[in-house]
Amino acid sequence: MSEKERISFGSKLGVVAAAAGSAVGLGNIWRFPYELGQYGGGAFLVIYLLCVLLLGMPVMMSEFVIGRMGQANTAGSFRKLAPGKKWWIVGLMGVLASFLILGFYIVVAGWTLEYVVQAVGDRFSGRETATLAKVFADFSTDTFRPLLWMALFTILTGGVVYAGVKNGIEKSTKFLMPLLLLIIIALGVRSVTLPGGAEGLRFLFQPDFSKINSSVILSAMGQAFFSLSLGMGCMITYGSYISKKNNLQHTVVEVTVLDTLIAVLASIAIFPAVFSLGINPAQGPELVFITLPNVFAHMPGGYFWAILFFVLLAVAALTSTISLLEVIVAYVVEEFGFKRHRVIALVSVAVLFLGLLSSFSLGIWSDVKIFGMGFFTLFDNATSKILMPVGGLFIAVFVGWSLDKNAILNEMSNEGKIKVGYFRLFMFLVRYLAPIGIGLIIINQLGFGKLLSLE
Ligand code: PHE
Repeated sequence: MSEKERISFGSKLGVVAAAAGSAVGLGNIWRFPYELGQYGGGAFLVIYLLCVLLLGMPVMMSEFVIGRMGQANTAGSFRKLAPGKKWWIVGLMGVLASFLILGFYIVVAGWTLEYVVQAVGDRFSGRETATLAKVFADFSTDTFRPLLWMALFTILTGGVVYAGVKNGIEKSTKFLMPLLLLIIIALGVRSVTLPGGAEGLRFLFQPDFSKINSSVILSAMGQAFFSLSLGMGCMITYGSYISKKNNLQHTVVEVTVLDTLIAVLASIAIFPAVFSLGINPAQGPELVFITLPNVFAHMPGGYFWAILFFVLLAVAALTSTISLLEVIVAYVVEEFGFKRHRVIALVSVAVLFLGLLSSFSLGIWSDVKIFGMGFFTLFDNATSKILMPVGGLFIAVFVGWSLDKNAILNEMSNEGKIKVGYFRLFMFLVRYLAPIGIGLIIINQLGFGKLLSLE
């Protein structure tokens, strides 16, 4: 596709909605709370916020700059901006990361559909924690049922990506994000007012710094990259669809604030309930699927809230999976000239295969281990703890050291039309702090073997 023809997001709100749609997803509502629960509550939150501010925001800006300057998919943008150099490999790494993320993400996204159906069937009311936990365990370890939902979810994703950037991605996110925000606030209010809920708020907001160690820091950093969709070319790909008139600085701030807000609000909805109900906060991936049905079961109008919540969670997941699929599809279509619909179909099949491995690793293949982990955990850890931070490191180095400084300023200021207040700070962060920070956090874990076997 020539540069002139390249499609772009229609409006300013559309840009924010699409990028926020990618960022806000299961990472905020499903993954963030359980990581926080496993890694010590408030202390994790503090480190997470630091990572978002000092590493996430500069990397997001870098990705937008690369994408909007390069006007191509993730590998193509690097190739155009650094012809004859090997930087495109960073883009390719992102394509691989997208595959692996989709490989476990669609499983959890499928779970949300199952829970929509359970909510519609009024399966939460009157049930206690133990029963809800058993329902989840039976379902998630089942051989076939999760596969059906996962397949349906993948078809939905492919359909939206097929409809294209403007019609599919932009329209579907614009209205649903604000709705999701509202329902999480309502849930938070309910949860905080449960008896004993204050304990949960203390767990969340009173950091116990003695709990910090190198794996807490690595997990918080990985979660920041995962939640903001960074380090794997997603924001490069979306950046290439952002019009030259859009203010990148505002977009970075808006997306980051919204994403962080939703993660924190989701935790406010979850932890007071966790403590009130006596659930173990370090429960793991099932945390949300046991806690929230419990809250709905004891909430006035809980039946309707539950349906609305799981529908919106599925939609939030969908706006993330479409961005993941778009990274791969844009790459294959632009670099190899294949037809879009064919690529979507082929990639979906490949992703379903990975999804099957992930889903089986929780049930019938629970004893199949690679580096001591099942496929689900392997795909999750390999991406959030290695590929995404390493990708983010290279992206920062590329912008900090390889791109021309004036060209960057030009891009960020829309050719001098808007003021770039923090340019020197930005350059400092991408040149020094982000690469050194990410590098140290990874090295701190002493080698890949140990890194991989992290829970
Ligand atoms: N940020 C998404 C979430 O939090 C996940 C994601 C990661 C999406 C990477 C795109 C790219 O759910």
